[in-house]
Amino acid sequence: MTLPYSEIVMEHFQNPRNVGRIEDPDAKAIEGSPACGDMVAVYLKVDEATHRIEDIKFESYGCASNIATGSIITELAKGKTIEEARDITWQEAADALGGLPPIKMHCSVLAVDGLQAAIQNYEERHGLVKEAIPTDEAEVRRRLKHVMNPQVGLDLIRTKLVQNVEIDAGTVRIHLDMPSEHQFANNIREEIVEKIEPLWDVQIVEVIFTT
Ligand code: FES
Repeated sequence: MTLPYSEIVMEHFQNPRNVGRIEDPDAKAIEGSPACGDMVAVYLKVDEATHRIEDIKFESYGCASNIATGSIITELAKGKTIEEARDITWQEAADALGGLPPIKMHCSVLAVDGLQAAIQNYEERHGLVKEAIPTDEAEVRRRLKHVMNPQVGLDLIRTKLVQNVEIDAGTVRIHLDMPSEHQFANNIREEIVEKIEPLWDVQIVEVIFTT
């Protein structure tokens, strides 16, 4: 089956702009699609005084539509302030690509979600969160869905490694069903801290292993 991709989609797929990663970014996010299991990472460099996005890069582990959308949203976002870039919608991205086959809409949603999550990460890291909703267990678990257990290639929630989440006055304690001498224990701990620590009301993240 050949999907009716527009010429713009094909051009961005074949020559994607702003591909790669930024070392030492001011913000980053990795988003996964529940629809297909693919992932996209977005990195930002932002001018602290003006909030303007000076550089943006993305890595896609998705399909042609996802790569093309990642390419177009980085073009749309570059040079905008984070407040302006926050308003970029998947509809805008899809329109800028000359449309996408309906079956591929979730791929552009994934790329735009990646951009929005990176902007949120910037706001959290820089104390700019407007709607200061207290962190709850659901939010912690949502973020833990982005931490992989490299042994099986699935996230911590799906592999049922998270036994318990406690939130207490700025401390988040995550109990894992995994011994501390597990070969990936340190990597997993680092990834958890990286995902949970930027939350605006979290000061300490503790990862507790079974032994
Ligand atoms: Fe997964 Fe397109 S099918 S991103």
